[in-house]
Amino acid sequence: MSLADASAKSILFGEHAVVYGQPAIAVPLASLRAHAQVQVHDYGDAGQIQIVSEDLHRQLWLHECDPQDPLAAIVRLTLRELELQPDQPLLITIRSDIPVRAGLGSGAAVSIAITRALAAFADAELTSPSVSRLAFEVERIHHGSPSGIDNTVIAYEQPVYYIRDRTLQPFNLQTPLQLVLADTGQRTGTAEAVAGVRSRRKREPAKYDLIFEEIGGLVEQAHASLLSGDHTALGPLMNHNQELLRSIGVSSSKLEGLIQAALEAGAKGAKLTGAGNGGYMLALVDKDSSAGVHTALQEAGGAGIQEVEVGA
Ligand code: PMV
Repeated sequence: MSLADASAKSILFGEHAVVYGQPAIAVPLASLRAHAQVQVHDYGDAGQIQIVSEDLHRQLWLHECDPQDPLAAIVRLTLRELELQPDQPLLITIRSDIPVRAGLGSGAAVSIAITRALAAFADAELTSPSVSRLAFEVERIHHGSPSGIDNTVIAYEQPVYYIRDRTLQPFNLQTPLQLVLADTGQRTGTAEAVAGVRSRRKREPAKYDLIFEEIGGLVEQAHASLLSGDHTALGPLMNHNQELLRSIGVSSSKLEGLIQAALEAGAKGAKLTGAGNGGYMLALVDKDSSAGVHTALQEAGGAGIQEVEVGA
């Protein structure tokens, strides 16, 4: 039997603009994880694989599955990568603490936990770039034209500065970051949010490209701040990023309500994280303001609240 896991992630700066070639920064959320277990099954024919996930309400046999099914796809891709042809039936069990379609990278984390568990079962080593590449193939099924930032930050499990098809720089935080995250409970999906931005940009390309460049500029400043360990600039940069995300139409009144509640309770900055239109928001706090921001988010109707420290 073999076990493996993978973390959730949060995009600190640059979502959406990253799809158009601007840099973005994401961090792993180590306390929220997807887990996969691979074991020899006690029924089924040699080579047959059953995948079961109570959290995702899924139970399927690989040989009966649509090749576009994300769970089946990651298993098939990983078996091919490992050149593994099991001579016994296998059972893959998935468990995940990560809310689905909420902007925290649940899809990529589940893929990566499965890949790692299959590699462990085969006694094989897969490098982070290989794990990331396999999960990226499945991200394409989830949402068409992903930037690749989700699979990257989760595969490396380190903060990353990322430019699509160009730059991947994992880095260490000089000073840990304290964040509080809260769920709006609203779900619209990444593909829909990305498609919405694409169609609005089509109508006003110059305006949108300027906004994306402005977001890219914020990301550069945030990267410098994170590398130096002096986080003074981060809060205002987050607020500015949120203004720009609002202007491209990916915020929601529930997100705005939570962001305002966090700022009023002493957060240094707050914004949506991930595709937006709902899902999670994040607030930058310090040790003194963390509990108050948590309470304020609860009172404002936030769900699934997480107080996390990144890079501790
Ligand atoms: O909501 P998530 O976790 O799938 O993040 C989406 C981030 C986007 O920048 C909106 C899309 C992408 O592919 O990078």
